[in-house]
Amino acid sequence: MSRILTVLMLAAGVAAAAQAAPSSNVAWTADTMALLDSGDPERGATLVDRCASCHGEKGVSVSAANPSLAGQLAPYTYKQLMDYKDGKRSHGVMRAMARPLSEEDMADIAAFYASQPVAKARQKDTSEIAETLVTRGDGERLIPACGACHGRSGMGNVTGGVGIAVMPVLVGQYPDYIADTLRDYRSGDRANDIYWQMRSVAGKLTDEEIEALARHYGTLGDE
Ligand code: HEC
Ligand code: HEC
Repeated sequence: MSRILTVLMLAAGVAAAAQAAPSSNVAWTADTMALLDSGDPERGATLVDRCASCHGEKGVSVSAANPSLAGQLAPYTYKQLMDYKDGKRSHGVMRAMARPLSEEDMADIAAFYASQPVAKARQKDTSEIAETLVTRGDGERLIPACGACHGRSGMGNVTGGVGIAVMPVLVGQYPDYIADTLRDYRSGDRANDIYWQMRSVAGKLTDEEIEALARHYGTLGDE
């Protein structure tokens, strides 16, 4: 094949990728932020009966198979529910759970879980590998510090201004869930992060680093 043809085909591929479906239909517009600000935790509490068998009555899950939701930032929880409903994050059970919910329901549910304390801390289990990635990242591999986005203590962050970004709380989560979801970002099975913010990071992590980070964050919690 001629070289120029190869270049043209590559360029077409890049253009197609650029036009591919967005990773999420949620945009942090003023309307979305206003909906979240008006989220009603008391109404949310009346909507979570169906969730309790897996996520616990107050969002502290009963088993590592299901992530804990207690203390999570409301915009993040809302976005995940929207993404499941839209099929942007694929999971059969969660899609079925999210499908009947309205946007207002999701905002209220998110407000309810945000109002609950994060799960209790487990026996601390950190390591030099984890501490380095959390606080400094790795300049050579262009991995930014996890803490730069998720906050120094892992309590998440919502940046304001023009470029709103929502970085979830990682503290109080089950280590196995953290490791699984990092592997899913790495393989692209989970691809609902806006601007590849997590896929670009997780794609560079080794199995050992993922395990170390999961133990680090997964053992922090409410003291
Ligand atoms: C049968 C068990 C089950 C039920 C019932 C259930 N969930 Fe889930 N939920 C899961 C599992 C498993 C996951 C992780 C799925 C994945 O890996 O994407 C999850 C993930 C989530 C997440 C994403 C958490 C994160 O940290 O990204 C949210 C939010 C959530 N569920 C909310 C709910 C709500 C609200 C309800 C009730 C309306 C509900 N779930 C009912 C099992 C369940
Ligand atoms: C550039 C900012 C940024 C950096 C750096 C970053 N993250 Fe994230 N992370 C995000 C965003 C944004 C999300 C939410 C994506 C979405 O909406 O699905 C996220 C989601 C996650 C989740 C999923 C949480 C859940 O409940 O499912 C985990 C786990 C995670 N990050 C761990 C890490 C670790 C560990 C590092 C460091 C190696 C890291 N992140 C570095 C921005 C970042």
